[in-house]
Amino acid sequence: MTPPKTGTLMNSETSAETRRDTLTITDNRTGKQYEVPIKNDTIRPIDLRKIKVNDADFGMMTYDPSFSNTASCASKITYIDGDQGILRYRGYSIEELAEKSTYLETAYLILYGELPTQSQLADWSYHITHHTFVHESIKKFLDGFHYDAHPMGMLISTVAALSTFYPESKDIFNAESRRKQTYRLIGKMPTLAAFSYRHSLGMPLVYPDNDLSYTGNFLNMLFRTTELKYKPNPTLERTLDILFILHADHEQNCSSTAMRGVGSSHADPYCATAAATAALYGPLHGGANEQVLRMLLEIGSVNNVPAYVKQVKAGEKLLMGFGHRIYKNYDPRAKIVKRMAYEVFETVGRNPLIDIALECERIALEDEYFVKRKLYPNVDFYTGLIYQSMGFPVTMFPVLFAIPRTSGWIAQWEEMLLDSEQKIARPRQVYTGYDLRSYTPMDARK
Ligand code: ACO
Repeated sequence: MTPPKTGTLMNSETSAETRRDTLTITDNRTGKQYEVPIKNDTIRPIDLRKIKVNDADFGMMTYDPSFSNTASCASKITYIDGDQGILRYRGYSIEELAEKSTYLETAYLILYGELPTQSQLADWSYHITHHTFVHESIKKFLDGFHYDAHPMGMLISTVAALSTFYPESKDIFNAESRRKQTYRLIGKMPTLAAFSYRHSLGMPLVYPDNDLSYTGNFLNMLFRTTELKYKPNPTLERTLDILFILHADHEQNCSSTAMRGVGSSHADPYCATAAATAALYGPLHGGANEQVLRMLLEIGSVNNVPAYVKQVKAGEKLLMGFGHRIYKNYDPRAKIVKRMAYEVFETVGRNPLIDIALECERIALEDEYFVKRKLYPNVDFYTGLIYQSMGFPVTMFPVLFAIPRTSGWIAQWEEMLLDSEQKIARPRQVYTGYDLRSYTPMDARK
């Protein structure tokens, strides 16, 4: 058999007439050739199943631990170009949304595909605002946690608990029911988060105030003490709103994948959101903002940065807030956050950790280790400094990520449910364990 041509040769020789949107694969074990269709620059692994040495073989699979080159769905929600540093929700650039939109408007856009009209936005905001209260029993449930329980642990548990209060949420193919659970989830996440925070301080819980904006009310539930009416600082309220816009969705990241995966078994949206929140908690994902601040505190001074970077390069530590699976350029969200940090410092005073962060960034962006690996600051690198300056304890940082990401999770979940190609998520494995063995009696075991 003639040896297969290389990809380069094929491309230069393929004329307009012979061009087909297919991929020809030669199996060198058998010499057989297979042609599989290409659509959107992808092939379907199921088309590879016909590649076999013997008829009895299972057929070829693809092996892709951590899904680094596997699309698990088709989606219309969020577009990322990691090489160019581009992020868009439903076609709108993150820069423009951060400048002109509000979190609730952006959440609507992400969920329903279009910017709302004035009356749609009023209706949407009304429903979110009127679904912020949680059942009083949730308070008893929260009381069971230790005073030093991590608020993410409390958030994960209480979101899952909501499932027991709204059993009708299991009616997942009912559009009206989905819409109701969407109001509830987006409305109640700040309440659960704030209640968790107040519980950890031993402070009385503050109930939602419907006169305030989404983020204004959140600040009220977190920080109100004896004042009769809480007045949020407008700069901090808007800053938080922009941060919420930046965190609203990020296509198929670890937590969205958890949301889709759990949702694919037709679990209700509260259980799926609890799973997504749990995925977000990890230090490699949404927990990174907390770890960035702990890292900056550990470094302690600008003079210690080179020694820390040396440890990172030796593989002993990670430079938290750096690197991304998709972005091989500056994360566009990090650029906006960095700018906002200075605006916040003008209101609440300069956070001294910024100098350590800037020095980490300066050294990393010049150092071959980071340049070669295309490691740039991600969204978590500067958010912690803002949150700390606003008065949040580090344990609340991942919670501040989970609240706005809820709209993205629900959009991803709904898209998955309504996609006729989706089934229960169930990957394959390459089994590398023992072949059949006989049971070893106890006295014969070593
Ligand atoms: N510090 C030091 N080295 C790093 C870092 C880092 N932050 N990130 C990646 N690297 C190195 C890896 O060790 C690897 O080096 P090698 O090729 O010599 O083995 C190389 O860069 C490629 O990294 P991978 O881990 O293969 O990249 P992956 O796409 O799997 O990981 C991740 C992405 C998890 C974000 C990683 O960059 C990381 O751990 N960063 C720190 C945690 C963080 O900031 N997470 C937040 C991400 S943004 C978000 O979720 C909101």
